[in-house]
Amino acid sequence: MCGIVGYIGSHQAAPVILEGLSKLEYRGYDSAGMAVFNGEKIQIQKSVGRLKVLEELTHGGATMPGTVGIGHTRWATHGAPSDENAHPHYNQEETIAVVHNGIIENYLPLREKLLSKGYQFVSDTDTEVLAHLIDYYYKGNPLEAITKVMHRVQGSYALGIIFSEHPDQIFAVRKDSPLIVGQNENGCFIASDVPAVLKYTRKVYFIENQEVVRLRVDHMHFYTVDEEEIQKEPVTIDWDADAAEKGGYEHFMLKEMYEQPKTVTDTLLPRIKDNDIVIEELGMSDEEINAIRKIFIVACGSAYHAGVTAKYVIEGIARIPVEVDLASEFRYRNPIFEEGTMVVVISQSGETADSLAALRESQKLGHKVLGIVNVVGSSIAREADNVMYTWAGPEIAVATTKAYSAQLIALYLLAMKFGKVRGKLDADAFHSMLKDLKRLPGQIERLLANKQRIQRFANRYIGAKDVFFIGRGIDYAISMEGSLKLKEISYIHSEAYAAGELKHGTISLIEEGTLVAAVATQDALFQKTLSNMVEVKARGAFVLAVTNEGNTEIEKAADYCIYIPRTNPYFANSLAIIPLQLFGYYVAVGKGCDVDKPRNLAKSVTVE
Ligand code: AGP
Repeated sequence: MCGIVGYIGSHQAAPVILEGLSKLEYRGYDSAGMAVFNGEKIQIQKSVGRLKVLEELTHGGATMPGTVGIGHTRWATHGAPSDENAHPHYNQEETIAVVHNGIIENYLPLREKLLSKGYQFVSDTDTEVLAHLIDYYYKGNPLEAITKVMHRVQGSYALGIIFSEHPDQIFAVRKDSPLIVGQNENGCFIASDVPAVLKYTRKVYFIENQEVVRLRVDHMHFYTVDEEEIQKEPVTIDWDADAAEKGGYEHFMLKEMYEQPKTVTDTLLPRIKDNDIVIEELGMSDEEINAIRKIFIVACGSAYHAGVTAKYVIEGIARIPVEVDLASEFRYRNPIFEEGTMVVVISQSGETADSLAALRESQKLGHKVLGIVNVVGSSIAREADNVMYTWAGPEIAVATTKAYSAQLIALYLLAMKFGKVRGKLDADAFHSMLKDLKRLPGQIERLLANKQRIQRFANRYIGAKDVFFIGRGIDYAISMEGSLKLKEISYIHSEAYAAGELKHGTISLIEEGTLVAAVATQDALFQKTLSNMVEVKARGAFVLAVTNEGNTEIEKAADYCIYIPRTNPYFANSLAIIPLQLFGYYVAVGKGCDVDKPRNLAKSVTVE
């Protein structure tokens, strides 16, 4: 995600744009920039780093005089964070400037075509292609040029565009990425999201796909991609500014939970081409994949839990031995590397000190590292030999949800790719799994719709002192993440236990009314886990069961059941974790905890 803002009116544009961008930093913050028409030409200023760098560079916008401008705060997708890759991008004559939120999927062939026509590029971004393509079609009529580009570009975009030959106008264009426009007595505004304009107006227009807006100082015109003028009705926003940044959700964590269907889709679909899995960024030939003898997966926290899941999935599908290590342990235990060892480091932030150290340790011993990372251009992403991004967008809440779900998808794809190349996964099984993967976003959506029921159940446990999560196999990995979600935001002690291990001591802690969440998605282990539920119930536990739809037999041992849609057992974590995320969230909300910024924690642990 990125944030775009534009303004045309009677006030200086740069300060308005900076103010708007400051409300959109949650959408991305690795670089920022502005383009303002200063009466003669378009002045452009951009910088890598937080928005504050740009504010200081432009003295709060004072060095960029003018009343027409656009701005951008970036979440890198194509091209690492840098001054050159920051937006706005512009044509060679700097008479057209563009800011963009989204991904241009066919930017490479378009770039080739423009290069063949003599265009030169100064960045690695997909967005720069748009600036030159608009230039290519521009013959004096901005709307005509824009709509021609819209017909030729595939992908998602929310655009702000200014033309130095038309300094009395700004253009806004939308396809898939969010875009709003607004107006008050001092001018007109464009923005990726409501928070950017709330200070100036509460009356906004939500732009639909394939619509173009021409904004002037005191009025706006709306067009279709065929240049037909249309009328639109404004919406009055009654959210407060803080709620608006969260898109109307009470917390970023809830917002990010609800972004999981998109996160899963965005991480999955670009890597499925012609019904096959294509992971270009893997950087491994089939021979190299066949030469793998062992995989170390190294991570911390929830990323580690994704790694534990991956052990079961990769060993089950690809039959490659997998060892999963906490990074803080791995880096000091002098791991044994044999020929054919592959190292995978998983990290949302890409800055976790222990995970980065584990990466460096592995490379020092001569082993290549694959990073599975969310933040583009982060240290782990830059230093890994290859990086597979999880396209979850900026994750603001300290407790990870959408990035964790994206990590699972990346790991499933890796397991299936390896399994297919190594001949362990036949075509029928492969295609059946692909179908199951594609169904996950909709199934997650269904589970999220269940939130009221989970909230009611969670309210019963606001006063809990100890909660246990148990499961076998992948269900044990799910239990680990469910337990962490609860404890890190509600401060209630909780632990995950291999269901079969509980009786070896810890079961002594079960008292009358102790909540035990039993995860039972693995049909092959269902009866075993059922027995463990009976064991804890016999000692007074209140048993919450998370299991597949149809497993109603579980009701003889469970006091409360949450049923999840059926999927391939290897992918069950992606579904079972949803009610557990919601449970932890609503217990924390019920306790009045600071859900997005829990005590003692940081979003990225950059110290040992
Ligand atoms: C997860 O909710 C926690 N915030 C924490 O355990 C986190 O997963 C861990 O610190 C690893 O962070 P990373 O993925 O950015 O490396």
